[in-house]
Amino acid sequence: TDLTRGLHPDFMAKEIEQQPEVVADFMATWGPSIGRKLWSPFGLAMPRHLTIVGCGTSLHAGRAVAQVAARLGGIPFTSIEASEVAATTTVPGSLAVVLSQSGETADVLRAVDALHGRSHPILALTNNPHSALARRAQAVMICRAGPEIGVAATKTFTAQVVGGTAVVLSMLAAGGVLDRSDIHRLVTQLESVADLMAYAIGAARGSVPDLVPALVDSPGFVFLGRGPGRVFADEGALKLKELTYRWAESHAAGELKHGPLALIEHGTPVIVVDDGSDRLAATIEEVRARGARVLSIGPEQATIPARTSTNAHGLARGVDWLGPLESVVGLQVLARELAVALGRDVDKPRNLAKSVTVE
Ligand code: G6P
Repeated sequence: TDLTRGLHPDFMAKEIEQQPEVVADFMATWGPSIGRKLWSPFGLAMPRHLTIVGCGTSLHAGRAVAQVAARLGGIPFTSIEASEVAATTTVPGSLAVVLSQSGETADVLRAVDALHGRSHPILALTNNPHSALARRAQAVMICRAGPEIGVAATKTFTAQVVGGTAVVLSMLAAGGVLDRSDIHRLVTQLESVADLMAYAIGAARGSVPDLVPALVDSPGFVFLGRGPGRVFADEGALKLKELTYRWAESHAAGELKHGPLALIEHGTPVIVVDDGSDRLAATIEEVRARGARVLSIGPEQATIPARTSTNAHGLARGVDWLGPLESVVGLQVLARELAVALGRDVDKPRNLAKSVTVE
């Protein structure tokens, strides 16, 4: 394992760039087993409900995975911050999907205690096979992202989403929701995520640096998403806060008019994970009319493109049932570039730790 930065300016830059190979490596290892033995040895029946548990970026990854189970299998879910699990009523019998890059986060381990106490079966998604979380779960999926040095999670987010999706597909195959040809099609699309991420990295590199000068003096940022894009807007706001120390909030686009709209002034940056819908277009018009600086992420014509609309050069167009995962790349690059321009230590943001082992 290469633990050096190589030619990269910082570990975060390296880890952002590694996302295509992380996906490709995961799919090369697990792709052929998806829908076959990946789920069944866990000995868990097809769940009727999922309880998604994690902190920070891992919780976002869990929400993205749960959306896949909901969309393809109709499985309902609840997501709970790990620190809130002990104080929250959970759905009896629900499969707890507990995500933690390190597998050692104290809030997560305490949540596992509470979940065990309520007899929830636990599926762990972690990057650390030797972690306390991995030891204490009935079933474990290792995300295989390799060591992540940057405090702000990047490639492990993507690895958790892809790893969790692999488990969900297998679960739905075992439950008879997906047949062999469905699995074949969906696995091929999941494999294409490596290329999607590579395209998104190039597109972000080409578009983000020019945007930075107009944004560095902004005291606050509003992120908006809708449906499957919402969780990626949340993740983008988290990355921006962690790295730049600027305020950032994320909302469902439709909630804007119920409060956050009051924040919008001339020049306020509003970053939209664009799903191309008319509803989102209407929201964009509303903030633009109030002078906001709108930056869209997603389609080819967006401020920060994340995918092509054609299949030219063999590039995939995005995987609709997975949500706009590739949009996270532009958001990671935006947060990093802004932080660099502000002179922040992007690998070690102030006040934060890679793994928080105290409650
Ligand atoms: C810390 C890190 C975050 C991370 C969170 C959860 O707060 O700074 O980047 O998302 O812990 O970590 P975990 O190892 O449980 O995924």
